Amino acid sequence: MRIASDAISFLDTVLDRTIAPGYSRVGFRMRKRHWPDNDPRPESMRGRTALVTGANSGIGKATAAALAGLGATVLLGVRDLERGAQACRDIQATDPDADVSVVRCDIADPVSVTECAATLAHRLSRLDVLIHNAGVLPDTRQETAEGHELTLATHVLGPLLLTELVAPLLGAATDPRVIFVASGGMYTQRLAVDDPEYRESPYQGVTAYARTKRMQVALTPLLAAHYAPRGISVSSMHPGWADTPGVATSLPGFHRLTKPLLRDAAEGADTVVWLAATEPTPASGHFWHDRRSRPEHYLRRTRYSDEQAQRLWRYCRDAIHPASDQPS
Ligand SMILES: NC(=O)c1ccc[n+]([C@@H]2O[C@H](COP(=O)([O-])OP(=O)(O)OC[C@H]3O[C@@H](n4cnc5c(N)ncnc54)[C@H](OP(=O)(O)O)[C@@H]3O)[C@@H](O)[C@H]2O)c1
Repeated sequence: MRIASDAISFLDTVLDRTIAPGYSRVGFRMRKRHWPDNDPRPESMRGRTALVTGANSGIGKATAAALAGLGATVLLGVRDLERGAQACRDIQATDPDADVSVVRCDIADPVSVTECAATLAHRLSRLDVLIHNAGVLPDTRQETAEGHELTLATHVLGPLLLTELVAPLLGAATDPRVIFVASGGMYTQRLAVDDPEYRESPYQGVTAYARTKRMQVALTPLLAAHYAPRGISVSSMHPGWADTPGVATSLPGFHRLTKPLLRDAAEGADTVVWLAATEPTPASGHFWHDRRSRPEHYLRRTRYSDEQAQRLWRYCRDAIHPASDQPS
């Protein structure tokens, strides 16, 4: 028995290191056959509330549908209310009992994030799960009204602000979980602590995307430690390669080439849903893929020190709370 489980673990690791098979639906389906018996139980999310950002399409929408299917009350955090309402209708067309509704949350806009947190505080007594799924891959360098590079604002600053603002609601839940949907693309990138706003080299959207996904993964253990006293667990994961509107639009060449091998959105969402709903709660502070904790580095050159990770976190906290907002 031990030999069989070692062989499965070895195969899983080989799939992970060889990237293309592991990230594709082939890897997902091979691993799925050997997962331990800790699928989220039917109805396991009944009585629990989850907020999923960027939930009007792709992996976010599939996550919202799956959590609602487990009985959760799911809030779709979206920047376009009509697209969010359409996603709710789509989910309920398949599952008429799905308890889904929309809350406006443009994660790159701190005003919208603050309003979203205020709406949640008004509507909820607690929040059980917060999923930072919203993502962008712009062609050119863009800045928010606050002067932050768009992928940094969307993948890092907005999620940090939202987590902080809803921490009291999360802290009121019995087993609160925060999950970042990162990307395997982050394996190629160092921590851009000296140039987090991508001002100092020619901009490439794919690099900006992967750098800020690296930041999500680097900040996960720091956030886990920060929120541990309130009982809040923090994880990050990557979904592999899934066929979503985002991939089709942002990476059309990659999409065309790999389409037959891509996971569907529900397969991409599997580990997010598992992290949100499985029992016991997976260990906080880790990076996951296909229900297993994964290394944060495959290349020596991407390694960073604790001091660099802390420096990035300080930068982000100052960006979220400009000097004028900080208590004197
Ligand atoms: N698909 C993959 O293979 C893959 C691989 C690795 C990682 N991921 C990650 O998975 C997550 C979901 O991506 P996806 O593939 O499902 O792409 P998608 O279909 O484009 O979904 C992205 C979602 O994010 C939303 N969004 C973007 N900016 C936002 C903002 N400022 N505020 C609120 N929502 C915002 C989009 O809303 P709009 O409709 O308003 O634009 C959309 O609903 C992303 O974080 C992505 O980086 C995906």
